[in-house]
Amino acid sequence: MSDKPWAGRFTQPTDKFVEEFTASIDFDQRMYRYDIQGSIAHARMLARQGIIETAEADTIVEGLGAILAEIEAGSFEFSVSLEDIHMNIEARLIERIGTVGGKLHTARSRNDQVALDVRLYLRDELAEILEYLDKLQGSLLAQAEGNLAVIMPGYTHLQTAQPILFAHHMLAYYEMVKRDAGRMADVLKRLNVLPLGAGALAGTTFPIDREWVAAELGFDGVTRNSLDSVSDRDFALEFCAASSILMMHLSRLSEELILWSSADFAFVELTDAFCTGSSIMPQKKNPDVPELVRGKTGRVYGNLISLLTLMKALPLAYNKDMQEDKEPLFDTVDTVKGSLKIFADMIAEMKVQAENMRVAAARGF
Ligand code: ARG
Repeated sequence: MSDKPWAGRFTQPTDKFVEEFTASIDFDQRMYRYDIQGSIAHARMLARQGIIETAEADTIVEGLGAILAEIEAGSFEFSVSLEDIHMNIEARLIERIGTVGGKLHTARSRNDQVALDVRLYLRDELAEILEYLDKLQGSLLAQAEGNLAVIMPGYTHLQTAQPILFAHHMLAYYEMVKRDAGRMADVLKRLNVLPLGAGALAGTTFPIDREWVAAELGFDGVTRNSLDSVSDRDFALEFCAASSILMMHLSRLSEELILWSSADFAFVELTDAFCTGSSIMPQKKNPDVPELVRGKTGRVYGNLISLLTLMKALPLAYNKDMQEDKEPLFDTVDTVKGSLKIFADMIAEMKVQAENMRVAAARGF
């Protein structure tokens, strides 16, 4: 009657629209690699602890490896009726290797499983984001070093105040980005603990070995309270908060680049690759990239507020509301990565119009 692992006590099938409405597979499929990575470690631990047979674990691990290959080859069929990535993979495992596949879920719940997957996913993304931040710092530093003698007007209230070095201005952003990197590295500290073992909320009576799984998955340790383990999304919130501050910095730099590349300032020229033209006004070269990054800052703030509002007043422990944590988180990851990547290149290639800056600095006095 139903392909759902939890359908035992149900006598009616799920309404089709309810099924679609409650499913997360359309977006949580991006965590497939982490779901499989976590399951492999879990299966090996179950065998080490004598909870399942070693041969059973081998069959499970082999099956999961084959599923990973299917997904990466694009031949895996994701099904909405199987709700989420966890049940899609579990159902396929049972389809491939038989009922022994069901043993994988011993001493585990989707509640601690999803908490694990999100942590593993974000840990990898954070590593990439830290690389992009480093690259952007490099571009800012190179602009400073390559233009050491360039004098520009320094502003307060956007009024010409005192002459400064262009390098000085670039290095102000370098400091901001350096703090952003520090905040991202800090997120990693509290993120990098294993929640698996919390079960649905109250742990498990099976003699599991959480420390072994934690080491196997590269975690620094294990979470300490099972209720907290399945309901904590602080790490996602911290990431979205750090991302909001980072985007605020990029939006400030964007604003300056937009002003500076206008005909009235003409302090810098953004290379053609980062601009577009106008069919009706051929004199124009629009700074699309900084404008878009300035605009995208809004959605990153919005994602932080979504997540804060989502978690507000949720009783312990897991609640289905929390399925809504993924889209704001994923969107923040994509937006921050894209913005940093494009900024690192755009800053590196930006041409400085030193003479215009010097003339502007001298204007008035
Ligand atoms: N798809 C769910 C989520 O993203 C997984 C956990 C579901 N757990 C449950 N008991 N329904 O949060």
